Parts: sequence; C-alpha cells; structure tokens
Amino acid sequence: MRCTAILRIVVILLTLLTTWFFAEKFFSGKKDIKRNVLEQKKVKINCGNEKPCPDDYFAFKIISGAANVVGPSICFENIIIMSSVRNNIGRGLNIALINASTGILIKTDSFDMYSGDVKPLLDFIKPVKDGTLVFVASFDDPGTKLNDEARAVFTEFGSSYAKKINFRDSWLFVGGKGINSKSPFEQHIKNNKETNKYDGWPEVLEMEGCIPRKTK
Ligand SMILES: *[C@@H]1O[C@H](CO)[C@@H](O)[C@H](O)[C@H]1NC(C)=O
Repeated sequence: MRCTAILRIVVILLTLLTTWFFAEKFFSGKKDIKRNVLEQKKVKINCGNEKPCPDDYFAFKIISGAANVVGPSICFENIIIMSSVRNNIGRGLNIALINASTGILIKTDSFDMYSGDVKPLLDFIKPVKDGTLVFVASFDDPGTKLNDEARAVFTEFGSSYAKKINFRDSWLFVGGKGINSKSPFEQHIKNNKETNKYDGWPEVLEMEGCIPRKTK
C-alpha cells in the first residue's frame, strides 16, 4: 500500500518535471523567434530587397513594364512611389525625382514617348536641380520621341544608355543631377525580334540597390 503511494508521487513528480522541461524549451524557442524578427526589423530590409542597406543609404527597387501589359513600379525606402495600383504610371517614360539629402519625393510623372510630344518631358527634366535623384522606368515604348536634347539631359544625370534608347527597349536608370559620373544603377535590353521574351518586347528588368544619402 505505502509502496504504491510512493510510486504514485514519483510518477507525478516525473511528469511535472518533463512537462516543465518541454514547456521551458518550447517557450525559450519562441523567444528566439521573436528576437530574430526584431533584429530583422532593425536592419530594415526595405522594398523587399535581398540585401539590407547600411545607415545613411536609401534602399530602392525599380521594375520596368512588361511588354505593353503590366506597368512598371518604383519603390524607395519601402514606399511604392509609382505603380499601376497608385495609378500614376503610363506608357513611355516613368520618372520620379527625389531630394538626395532628405529622401523626400519631389514629384513623379509619366511621358508618352510614342504618340506624345517630347516637350513635356523636357519641361520636367531640364529644370532638375543639383542634389536630385532621378528614377526612370520604361513601359512599352520609351524611345520613339526621345530627341538629342532629352538624351543629353539623361546622359548628364549619369546615364550610359540614354543615347541608344529605341522603340520598345526595356530601360531602368537611377541617376542624379550633379553626380558628375556614370551611374552604376542602369539596365537596358534592346528590342530584338530574335531575342525578345514577349512577341514585340524584350524581357522585364528589375534592379535594386542602396544609394548613399547626400551629405554635402
Ligand atoms: C533638399 O532638401 C533640403 C532641405 O529641405 C533643401 O535645402 C534642398 O534645397 C533640397 N534639394 C533639392 C534638390 O530639392
């Protein structure tokens, strides 16, 4: 009789101990997950980019249009500043201007380069002031109406391909006024029947990166 009672107590104690042991393991595991999430937030993985940006850098991701079907998008510091959903994009060239020291959006606009006129584009890009970041994403046709004057302005912003952009090319460019060097952030695919991914258009382009904040 006494033996059974002792045995019963031992079994209860053992059960309590194992429960406590597993409970402890379980909850400390949960704590680790929570801490990892917090640490990820601290290094701010902006715009869904693969690599986080260091302090004093702006994160961006820019995607060109797909054929004449899916519109382009521009993300800056985790905010989609231009997209179909925002309803502020159009066929041709989609351009966003951002203050390079504050990271504040100055303005966005899109310019029809097929049936439009080049003048509104020139009126938009020529007055851009020193210390402005310039984001450009193509959609459908960025090239037909582009003239030498507009190409020269983009070249001054640091573009290497602006001189060669043609009918239905895919083009992504991030440059700036007053950078006085070629931008490392540019991609271009020529419209070519032999290599096009879609019937009349080359592949979509996608580019992400970190831009150092301008500190004067
Ligand atoms: C950027 O913002 C700063 C601070 O407001 C201002 O002094 C500067 O003129 C702005 N630069 C541009 C290019 O808008």
